[in-house]
Amino acid sequence: MLLAALDAMGRHPEIRRVRQTALEALRPEPGARLLDAGSGAGDVSRGLAAKVGPAGEVIALDSSAATIEAALRRHDGSNVRYLTGDVSAMTLPTDSVDGVWCERLLQHVEDADTAIAELIRVTRPGGRICLVDTDWESLSFDGVPPHLAATVVEASHGRLTPRRLDMGRTLRRRLVDANLLNVTATPVTCLFDDPTSAAVVLPMVNPLLPTTTWPTPAAVREKWFSHVNAAGARGDFLAVLTIWVVTGTVA
Ligand SMILES: C[S@@+](CC[C@H](N)C(=O)[O-])C[C@H]1O[C@@H](n2cnc3c(N)ncnc32)[C@H](O)[C@@H]1O
Repeated sequence: MLLAALDAMGRHPEIRRVRQTALEALRPEPGARLLDAGSGAGDVSRGLAAKVGPAGEVIALDSSAATIEAALRRHDGSNVRYLTGDVSAMTLPTDSVDGVWCERLLQHVEDADTAIAELIRVTRPGGRICLVDTDWESLSFDGVPPHLAATVVEASHGRLTPRRLDMGRTLRRRLVDANLLNVTATPVTCLFDDPTSAAVVLPMVNPLLPTTTWPTPAAVREKWFSHVNAAGARGDFLAVLTIWVVTGTVA
């Protein structure tokens, strides 16, 4: 289910826009060795491998062995090395990569600063680190009753969305505090103007989510989806969510 969800997200035009912003910020060069931390199904890793070419390499690292196995099954022969491991305690040598891509991982980890310190450790001086993460607190809706949206969003916290809701907007501070140079931060505000498109990225709008994982009483769920569907039918549904792209150079 996770991989199917990640696949659908990767195809979504708004997530593609976020990734294009990250690509322009990281500027991977031919021959570079890159780390994709929290690589999921490895689609981004393989895309980065195409950028660094046969003289380069991408290390796809994920803590889930099952996810790495699935990524291996999708391997396309490009220069990607798949590794199971925890971003906060990597076995990679110090100064061993030229750049890092870390997308929507830090919102899930126990201690983001420890993970960032590890990303910095494995990156050579002058290498670039690109962090991409969501600010779930930026999520807002229109076209549905505000109090109902607030109830559903509040109930989703820590259940449908990760514990660290504000991760995206904290990234710039974290890289500045870690003494990275040339830190740039770009908020990409994703717009979802129909419920089907929104459901790909926003779990609380996804009617296919098993009811056992749904965080409100059934009556609230029913009312919520009837308003979401009605807004979709009228054409005035709106959801917005900001995802941050933050980049810095290792001193
Ligand atoms: C939301 S997915 C994002 C995957 C991919 N970066 C993307 O944007 O499509 C988060 C991924 O991080 C992995 N992950 C979670 N905690 C991790 C950790 N401590 N170290 C490495 N990977 C981790 C999960 O297994 C999952 O594949």
